[in-house]
Amino acid sequence: MSKEIKRVAVFTSGGDAPGMNAAVRAVVRNATHKGLHVYGIYNGYQGMIEGKIERLETKSVRNIIHRGGTILKTARSKEFMTKAGRQRAYDSLQAFDIDGVIACGGNGTFTGAKIFHKEFGIPFIGIPGTIDNDLYGTDFTIGFDTAVNTAVDAVDKIRDTADSHNRLFFIEVMGRHSGYIALYTGIGSGASGILLPEKSTDTKELTDALKKGLKRNKLFSLVVVAEGDESGGAIQMAEKIKKEFPQYETKVAIIGHLQRGGSPTCADRVLASRLGSEAVNALISGKTNMMLGIINNEIAYTPFEDAIKKAKPFNKDLIQLAEVLAS
Ligand code: F6P
Repeated sequence: MSKEIKRVAVFTSGGDAPGMNAAVRAVVRNATHKGLHVYGIYNGYQGMIEGKIERLETKSVRNIIHRGGTILKTARSKEFMTKAGRQRAYDSLQAFDIDGVIACGGNGTFTGAKIFHKEFGIPFIGIPGTIDNDLYGTDFTIGFDTAVNTAVDAVDKIRDTADSHNRLFFIEVMGRHSGYIALYTGIGSGASGILLPEKSTDTKELTDALKKGLKRNKLFSLVVVAEGDESGGAIQMAEKIKKEFPQYETKVAIIGHLQRGGSPTCADRVLASRLGSEAVNALISGKTNMMLGIINNEIAYTPFEDAIKKAKPFNKDLIQLAEVLAS
């Protein structure tokens, strides 16, 4: 039988994502509702190592549901990758008698959690918090919806100036290993081309599509490029093909960290609230070593092992849709 859970800790880790605060709020509120004590670990795994741990109560998470970033801060810890670092982290948790941990983050966060759980046996539940939407075991990650809405808003603005000046714009969005942000942004903003790491980039295909547009008197074009695309990104792609389009002035815009900030959309707030709350229930019912997600609008549990190693199936229909609509 697993030990009764009385004190849980929550932390955020890896790249911040809008909605992380809503997740922390849900953890604190549901845990308090269930009679547990909750602790916040500041600065991710590094804060766990350094014992930056504080009690959180209902009032500690007031007025944060709408805020981007994370009140618990976040970090990427090299020290946690060492056995000595993890031992110090375990000692910190012991000092607060913590018997269950909830981590909101991405792949690296869950890799750390899996190792830590194996070494020290503390129950661990993960919540997917990353703008990249690249985790197996959930349809969407916390922060993705906000990030794509920010990106689409930026592309809409670029569209105005591209239209006014007859320009060809290459717009780079985030996604180091994943094209979800690029795909959704491209479809949502009516891009003429979308370059993704999940699909090998055919420069000729892109130039042909843009030339077709020119033939139809298209006076400006927008191409959305994922930062992780094999072409090397928007700057490289623009350099490569701009000679073929003397009719256009070619420009590059990199949206960058704008996509990581801002008030979370309602979709992200609801997703984060569901997952944060359910993470507490999961610990109470003895679950561990799993990431929570939402699949077809139902809560889904995925072992860390799978969430880390398995590739999220990429929706090929969406790629096709983008191609048809861009033509
Ligand atoms: O993993 C999320 C992400 O936003 C990626 O899309 C991006 O490449 C990376 O983080 C940038 O991380 P940082 O700003 O922490 O270097």
